[in-house]
Amino acid sequence: MSANFITGTGTDIGKTWLACALLRHWRAAGRDVVAFKPLLSGFDPQQPQASDAGALLAALGREVSTAELDAIAPWRFAAPLAPDMAAAREGRRIDFDELVAFSRRVASANSGPTLVEGVGGVMVPLDDRHTVRDWIAASGLPCVLVTGSYLGSLSHALTALEALARVGAGVTAIAVNQTPGSAVTLDATLESLARHVAGIPLVSIARDSPQAGVARLARMLCP
Ligand SMILES: Nc1ncnc2c1ncn2[C@@H]1O[C@H](COP(=O)(O)OP(=O)(O)OP(=O)(O)O)[C@@H](O)[C@H]1O
Ligand SMILES: [Mg+2]
Repeated sequence: MSANFITGTGTDIGKTWLACALLRHWRAAGRDVVAFKPLLSGFDPQQPQASDAGALLAALGREVSTAELDAIAPWRFAAPLAPDMAAAREGRRIDFDELVAFSRRVASANSGPTLVEGVGGVMVPLDDRHTVRDWIAASGLPCVLVTGSYLGSLSHALTALEALARVGAGVTAIAVNQTPGSAVTLDATLESLARHVAGIPLVSIARDSPQAGVARLARMLCP
């Protein structure tokens, strides 16, 4: 099994972008890849291709149909809110055990590269008791932590790592996805993180030349 959970320091940090880049890289190398976005909020059935699941299906070369969406993103909610709030808007709630069972099942079903994208950052509430980090830990999957190079990203990354360590979640790599227009350089961010993070590989994703970082991360996740 070569499955990894893709999490991040927060929303819009580049989890889906990076997942799609990895999927395309592996597909180009002839690998048999799968990806999942089990929980999707802000989902518009009129524009499924605009959703994270739509992007993942496109990167997988699969149709963006209801059947395919059901297969990779079974829990879809309309409101663009944290999943517990989005579910509540529809009189629903997220069954944490079912979510974990789904994630474990899909992760073990494929022998090739497998990605499970979370939602937002590591401490996003899923219900009254669980956050994303609990989902990661209970799924038994190591994760990739996606962070940025904006001012403040170092604290966000180190805080996320502490939160993950607290529940025993393994971190395969930290992907530093360059933040456009940041006063802090990508290299300075990597150098500082390296001083504070021991034993976790750092991968640099440069905006204007992301391929080297994507290829390196792809090898780490699935040699
Ligand atoms: N390295 C990159 N190069 C170009 N565009 C990027 C890169 N990283 C992120 N983006 C763009 O930034 C936006 C936010 O990225 P993305 O949707 O991947 O974030 P996310 O972490 O998956 O967010 P969410 O929490 O909603 O799932 C998207 O428009 C995406 O295409
Ligand atoms: Mg996403």
